[in-house]
Amino acid sequence: MPETRPSMSPRALLAPRKASSSTSTTRTGGGTTRLAKPTFSPTTKLYEGERLELIHHLVTLRLNGALHLAPISPQPHRILDLGTGTGNWAVDVAVKYPSATVHGIDVSPTQVESYPPNVRFEIDDVEEPWTYTYSFNLIHGRYLAGAIKDWPRLLAQAYRQTTYGGWAEFHEFDMEFLAENPETRGKIRETGIIDEWSRQIADGIRDYGYEPEPGPKLREWLAEAGFVDVTQDVFTMPVGDWGRQEDLREVGGLTLMALLDGITAMSLRVFTAKGWNLESMHVYLAHVRKSLQDRTKMREHKLYVIRGRKSHLKVRH
Ligand SMILES: C[S@@+](CC[C@H](N)C(=O)[O-])C[C@H]1O[C@@H](n2cnc3c(N)ncnc32)[C@H](O)[C@@H]1O
Repeated sequence: MPETRPSMSPRALLAPRKASSSTSTTRTGGGTTRLAKPTFSPTTKLYEGERLELIHHLVTLRLNGALHLAPISPQPHRILDLGTGTGNWAVDVAVKYPSATVHGIDVSPTQVESYPPNVRFEIDDVEEPWTYTYSFNLIHGRYLAGAIKDWPRLLAQAYRQTTYGGWAEFHEFDMEFLAENPETRGKIRETGIIDEWSRQIADGIRDYGYEPEPGPKLREWLAEAGFVDVTQDVFTMPVGDWGRQEDLREVGGLTLMALLDGITAMSLRVFTAKGWNLESMHVYLAHVRKSLQDRTKMREHKLYVIRGRKSHLKVRH
């Protein structure tokens, strides 16, 4: 596993950048120029692609630089990224494993325009039958909450298309927020507007037939699909820069920024479907944002990292 502290993703060298985040260039030891970590100001209005880039950065930071935790072979041949979005992860993993062809699939053509030659972006629906004639050493999906209707079916396809000894790995955030309990100084499930808001979003996503919280369920689903050595790690993600540890303060600050920026996009479809008019929704979300910025709550939520291996032994399912 690569455990170096992440700086800016190598993709940043290649991708056209929008104006609202600022970057600076540094020289690396090898003499190449690479962009330093992006700086996002709390007032920055992010484009969706930039929000995904911010989330890619903060997740990688939380995982101490690792792009995956599955112990895949050091020279993989094929890697698949489901719902690749802008392709941040696919591009970084392609740079890390030049031996591999990395396929990034998404229903939307929102991928970066410049990328390494071993990346293939494909526009497709991962819930449709897969037509690949080859298998993958690693199948990865991140932040697909609300995107997938039938996870067991998706994982059955992933199992079929994983090489023997290969891995599937998923990274998903929880919708449940925890806040400081002043009496015990431990964390308890948040009550109040943040919990109310996140429940409404989760229920609304469910009403559309999608799974809003796959994180806690993926361990069981992977095992049911046939994967072995299924392992789950749960990482605390502070919401806000209130923590004692410097690296977690940075993760928390970026997490808060991504949430503050993303809640309108996350809420729009669900709230309008529930009959809210736009004005009432914006007033409500202003209260949610105000509460999110209350540092005394010392809020956190969870990042689930779940992976499983396809056994070398051929098992019939
Ligand atoms: C929240 S984004 C996460 C993107 C990326 N995995 C990341 O971590 O930055 C979810 C992505 O899943 C894509 N998506 C949703 N449903 C999909 C489907 N059925 N097949 C392929 N992609 C899908 C969306 O277009 C979107 O780009």
